[in-house]
Amino acid sequence: MSIAKENEAPAPLPIGVAEESKKVPVTREELVVATAPLTQQAEQFRALRNSIHALNPDGAPRTVVVTSALRGEGKSTATLNLAFALAEMPGFKVLVIDANLHAPAIEGLFGLPRAQGLCELLSGRLPLDQAVRPTSVSGVAILGPGSKPRNPSELLASDRMRTLLRTLKQRYHYVLIDTPEATTTSDASLLGAMADGVVVVVRVATTPKSYVEQTCRALESLGANLLGTCMTGADAPNTARQSPR
Ligand SMILES: Nc1ncnc2c1ncn2[C@@H]1O[C@H](COP(=O)(O)OP(=O)(O)O)[C@@H](O)[C@H]1O
Ligand SMILES: [Mg+2]
Repeated sequence: MSIAKENEAPAPLPIGVAEESKKVPVTREELVVATAPLTQQAEQFRALRNSIHALNPDGAPRTVVVTSALRGEGKSTATLNLAFALAEMPGFKVLVIDANLHAPAIEGLFGLPRAQGLCELLSGRLPLDQAVRPTSVSGVAILGPGSKPRNPSELLASDRMRTLLRTLKQRYHYVLIDTPEATTTSDASLLGAMADGVVVVVRVATTPKSYVEQTCRALESLGANLLGTCMTGADAPNTARQSPR
């Protein structure tokens, strides 16, 4: 590769087309609430939804961060299943933000191409209406990560992010925020402190207890409101539930 090519800025991402994103069906089998709605697994995400919603008796709009101690515990999958379960409530509008700027997954799980999103929106280069894309699931929209910025943590911790979350609460009943694992970056804790609540995903029988405890301590030390845990990866009943805290 020539030096000139290496120095070239990457081509900007396209702007998402709402009419196209609405037509792409959800096909991933792990997105059980959409693809296997009658299964026990889907029902467990509805139970998690009910627990979270029960903590919000006045029905005020809520921002909820989803994180875990380690990568691969099922955060992105759980975020979308929870979003689908929330959107099953009559008239509910849910937005999923992919704030895992290191390993984004939400667009991919929907089978959608990468497009401009959160980073362009926060840096003032894209209006909100173009950054948010509807999906084929009624009531669920997504805000993808956009182009990876030079300093993801700085962007996510900015006052613009805080203001954005306030604005989004005027438009959606729930805003779910998918984040990186809490043991390698502070992004989840920073966002957790801004959000109304945090759900910690734990892969059963895999994640050491000490990592989960470390994650909860990091979240709480910055002022996050822990709503509960979502257990994944077990065949036993109650694999997605709120923990008794
Ligand atoms: N409840 C679950 N049970 C079993 N496997 C799961 C579950 N949730 C997710 N997975 C699988 O685990 C892998 C990681 O999931 P993902 O949601 O991308 O994790 P993370 O966002 O925490 O990195 C994927 O292959 C996904 O299909
Ligand atoms: Mg993920």
